[in-house]
Amino acid sequence: MQRCFTRWAAAAAWVALATGCACEAGDTEPRATGEPVLAPAVTAVVPAAPAEEGPRFTAAGELLPPKDYRTWMYVTSGFAMGYGPLAQQAAEGGVQVFDTVFVERPAYERFVATGVWPESTMFVLELRTAEGHGSIVTNGKFQTDLLGLEAAVKDSTRFAGGWGYFELPSDATGPTGPAPVLPTTAACYECHAKNGAVEQTFTQFYPTLFAVARAKGTVRADFVGMPPTRTDLFEKVVAEGWPAGERLLADAATRWPGAGALREATLNQVGYQLLQADEQPEALGMLEYVTRRFPGSANAWDSLSEVQEQAGQGAAALASVAEGLRALDGDTTVQPRQREALSRSLSDRKARLVPG
Ligand code: HEC
Repeated sequence: MQRCFTRWAAAAAWVALATGCACEAGDTEPRATGEPVLAPAVTAVVPAAPAEEGPRFTAAGELLPPKDYRTWMYVTSGFAMGYGPLAQQAAEGGVQVFDTVFVERPAYERFVATGVWPESTMFVLELRTAEGHGSIVTNGKFQTDLLGLEAAVKDSTRFAGGWGYFELPSDATGPTGPAPVLPTTAACYECHAKNGAVEQTFTQFYPTLFAVARAKGTVRADFVGMPPTRTDLFEKVVAEGWPAGERLLADAATRWPGAGALREATLNQVGYQLLQADEQPEALGMLEYVTRRFPGSANAWDSLSEVQEQAGQGAAALASVAEGLRALDGDTTVQPRQREALSRSLSDRKARLVPG
């Protein structure tokens, strides 16, 4: 079914004639007429309707419902983040919520080119209930009912601080009607202005666009920063050497002790990634660091001894093997199959390295 757009009222009659879609002033939804399509020949000359772009307001300044927001550019999803009022309400009722952020494509493209959200940027934050049981899912979460829609619009001529925030009225199918801009006393303004990394937007949580903002230098100077990701760590070490990586990790350990980049498995993977990238000294630096942070891990010693052996550092590799075997004895949490694999790997290395 075709869509009818009221703002192309002049074209609407053409479209209606050509497609069998009946539009009247004030319609925002297509209505099937049930009539046969009468004039296929006209279809060829009907100008293609331009894509819906930019926020649209009623004469009273209310934001018109962006019906097709789900066709916009997807930028991120958050799970159980529960920061805005709707998510908070749901969380209080024991409901976990997914939020998904969409932005209009022209604004997205401009941001990718400049790192700045242009005037008329419009975001929609969609909130949906998380469900954990259905089909093959027993231990994950998927999205179901629409719980609410929030919007943000950048328009310096309309909004004193540059951005306006909205709660869009909605039902199960999407937005239902226009929304007045929320007063600047609403919690949205303060939280966004204080915590957003790029102007007032939470671009720090958009995995592809935060990199754009960092590259273009448009992250706010007073932004508190984010913990390094595994990729950040790898790239830092490749560009500046292991000591820079160690400084990055020391800083992360102080500021975000629970960060994923500090997990043993992640650090170990970065070590092997460095090895694959022909960065053997840096890989050794990383894997030594893992043994310092996790001295009771037989796996950490096994990895280090492996790379030391490859690097021709026999004595150091032997010492690491001894530490690994000691750690294996003391660690009751290692699963039997992994214990067997580690024991074999360490013992074989020892046999290879012991002189004579
Ligand atoms: C306590 C902090 C907080 C409050 C209050 C808050 N938000 Fe947000 N908002 C967030 C966070 C965090 C995100 C990022 C969500 C994500 O990345 O999944 C976000 C994202 C958004 C987005 C997507 C664009 C962006 O800025 O990243 C919109 C639109 C939005 N919020 C609207 C609102 C509206 C409307 C209100 C008030 C009714 C509101 N928010 C109140 C924290 C808040």
